[in-house]
Amino acid sequence: EKGGYPTFMDKEIAEQPAAVRQTLQGHFDGLRIVLDEQRLGEDELRTVDKVFVVACGSAFHSGLVAKYAIEHWTRLPVEVELASEFRYRDPVLDRDTLVVAVSQSGETADTLEAVRHARRQRARVLAVCNTNGSQIPRESDGVLYTHAGPEVGVASTKAFLAQVTANYLVGLALAQARGTKYPDEVAREFATLQEMPAAVEQTLELMDPVRELGREIGGSRAVLFLGRHVGYPVALEGALKLKELAYMHAEGFAAGELKHGPIALIEEGLPVVVVTPSPKSMPLLHAKLLSNIREIQARGARTIVISEEGDDTVAPFADVLVSLPRVPSLLQPLVATVPLQVLAAEIARSRGYDIDKPRNLAKSVTVE
Ligand code: M6R
Repeated sequence: EKGGYPTFMDKEIAEQPAAVRQTLQGHFDGLRIVLDEQRLGEDELRTVDKVFVVACGSAFHSGLVAKYAIEHWTRLPVEVELASEFRYRDPVLDRDTLVVAVSQSGETADTLEAVRHARRQRARVLAVCNTNGSQIPRESDGVLYTHAGPEVGVASTKAFLAQVTANYLVGLALAQARGTKYPDEVAREFATLQEMPAAVEQTLELMDPVRELGREIGGSRAVLFLGRHVGYPVALEGALKLKELAYMHAEGFAAGELKHGPIALIEEGLPVVVVTPSPKSMPLLHAKLLSNIREIQARGARTIVISEEGDDTVAPFADVLVSLPRVPSLLQPLVATVPLQVLAAEIARSRGYDIDKPRNLAKSVTVE
């Protein structure tokens, strides 16, 4: 059932273009975004005045990506919180709050309890879920299914990309209901999303040097990941993949935090993966990242730079340059996450670990 791939994780990484495509399928009728599988109508979305995203692990990272897109498209405040924190505190919620509960399995204990906590306070709950008929969608007011197909590898890959995609759809549906985007703008955004499976496909074709790099740095003690804007949650996701698969110390940081502490960790030869934004669409942030890369390289870090094709300004400061297809800035996580998944898988493999079944972890965390 691994379809010729050595592991489920390899297969699931390769299935990501299809996961994104299937998650978009049927959600635009030529005029409007349709969330046909949700029981929350457009009237209810119109009165939403605040959004919470609650989730764990990779699903939480998909929520962090969503914050950038939803706030930009809708002007609604979005808070993203770990379900395990949300459920034990007293968040400010009412009937005009939309709580988006993201879960691949639909059975994660903390996320389920966060849903119950939100509903007790009469907030409306929308589940973003990959498993039909699981508990979280059953207890939510509505559900938007991701169509990644069953994910067997314990480390989330295609389900994560599908969650990111579904969260964009939630953002567009809210923008449409609230009128913060004109219908033709929503249609254009959706058309751009439809180009993403091809961009992910192209990205997958560029992964040989990343695999080689993974084999080369398998003996490192630690790896750091840096990013800004949507590149920050991508950095967190890259670090999580490496922790769970390769049992290595890995940390993701917002690059702007470097001088507030993490730069002290930089030492000779330490691999640091930097997710850089587009120099064309985000010139200011790009310049900031470039100076971060120079700073860490000057202190001896081995810089692994994830960049946009055609960006030659980073090349002189990149010990390893991974150039990815150009996509709109907010959608960059759909391509930029892929090399980090491949890198983590390859490092783990070079250390002799089973990447489908990392130690101490379960696919679905149904107990606290
Ligand atoms: O099934 P869920 O999406 O609720 O699971 C959440 C996390 O347990 C999950 O994303 C976990 O962090 C993965 N192993 C990450 O690769």
